[in-house]
Amino acid sequence: MDVFEAVASRYSCRAFLPRPIPETTIRDIIERASRAPSAGNIQPWRIYAIAGERVEALKALLAPRMNELPKGEGGDYRIFPDGIEEEYRARRFAVGELLYKSIEVPRADKPARYRQYARNFQFFGAPVGIFFALEKSFGVAQWADIGGLLQTVMLLARGYGLHTCPQQAWVSWHRTLRAFLDLPDHLIIYSGMAVGYADEAAPINGWRSPREPLQVYATFTGFTSE
Ligand SMILES: Cc1cc2nc3c(=O)[nH]c(=O)nc-3n(C[C@H](O)[C@H](O)[C@H](O)COP(=O)(O)O)c2cc1C
Repeated sequence: MDVFEAVASRYSCRAFLPRPIPETTIRDIIERASRAPSAGNIQPWRIYAIAGERVEALKALLAPRMNELPKGEGGDYRIFPDGIEEEYRARRFAVGELLYKSIEVPRADKPARYRQYARNFQFFGAPVGIFFALEKSFGVAQWADIGGLLQTVMLLARGYGLHTCPQQAWVSWHRTLRAFLDLPDHLIIYSGMAVGYADEAAPINGWRSPREPLQVYATFTGFTSE
């Protein structure tokens, strides 16, 4: 698989096969991903990968708590700003519509929408979960570096025929995760990620999120025509 194919074939996979992944594969992906750049090469990431019994234990820990606290523990950082501009809000709304339409859940059916959201905390059936953390003291530049690492992991996963779903949803269970992962106080989780083999037959994997045309988000000046 070349880089073009890896980028084009990555999507947020939300239904996985239970087929396990060898530890050597996940180690290799994470080790290669550390080639991702970071400002000053400080490599601000801390990674926690879990599989097998650990995944099952985390799922079992959260399943009963989802009823108690449907919105989780509140999150220790804000994912979207208040008053997000209409242009961005509309894109978020549109992708949600596509997702729920693919599984035939009408917008008004809140319990069914919640059941789908709650599948985040089952890693959508994936056999491996990865959590990406960084120092609480770090600023926007290091948070951006972690984003680059996530994408590098996701593209390398494609090289093994694997699919991924980045999962900031886990941030809403930050207290439970901190205890479960034995995360030191000075670190904060940026995102989780489900990794596994896609269930290609699942309707939720059968659509792709749209993108704006190039002219909406990019300008080009000073180029000479070929
Ligand atoms: C950092 C990050 C966190 C995300 N968290 C979630 C999540 O918790 N659950 C989920 O279903 N999708 C999550 N997504 C997936 C986005 O919704 C998705 O990337 C976007 O809609 C574009 O679709 P695509 O990834 O299929 O191209 C996340 C994406 C990123 C980059």
